Amino acid sequence: MDAATQTVLLTANQIAGGVSRLAAEIRRDYAEDAPLHLVAVLTGGWIFLADLARALALPVTIDFVDASSYGANQHSSGIIRLRHALRLPVQNRDVLLVEDIVDTGATLAWLLNHVRAGRPRSLRTVALLDKPSRRAVDTPLDYVGFTIPDRFVVGYGLDHDEQFRHLPYVAALDVRPRSAGGQTPGDGQPS
Ligand code: IMP
Repeated sequence: MDAATQTVLLTANQIAGGVSRLAAEIRRDYAEDAPLHLVAVLTGGWIFLADLARALALPVTIDFVDASSYGANQHSSGIIRLRHALRLPVQNRDVLLVEDIVDTGATLAWLLNHVRAGRPRSLRTVALLDKPSRRAVDTPLDYVGFTIPDRFVVGYGLDHDEQFRHLPYVAALDVRPRSAGGQTPGDGQPS
């Protein structure tokens, strides 16, 4: 396996603060009478959804969708595939699309069209992480946790080739081919 060096960008405490702030912003915009319908994007959004749903202190309903343009590398293929469809109808619901990270914006733009076709009463977007320097498709983001530089990041639900999702922090990942028989200092450890 290739060697990977992690550089922590956001600690667990910083993430918790960002999620609380987002929850307060979102709560201000929605009445408490109708449930807010959270649609989380798999798989990277699973931890963010779990923390956000509990921090919101609003009645919520929850569904998942999996639309992805990434394979087992760090580059978007640009082609969106629906791998897990919505289970619940969105018609006449106040829908909040919960994204882990917005990079080129292609996935979120596709998902917005997909959900809009189901005729929700309202549709907004929240992303924990935003990489605006990478944007290729203009995508409206109503709530943003953290703006980050153009680095490939893992942890707090985000993966590289299905690894690192469990990390409680967000780290930038530098992957280098391992030299024959050699160990890379700091391999697997946050720096
Ligand atoms: P976009 O369509 O280019 O905006 O990519 C969005 C999706 O790509 C996210 O939902 C993630 O699954 C994945 N992605 C983009 N950047 C990263 C990253 O830095 N680390 C891990 N996954 C990423």
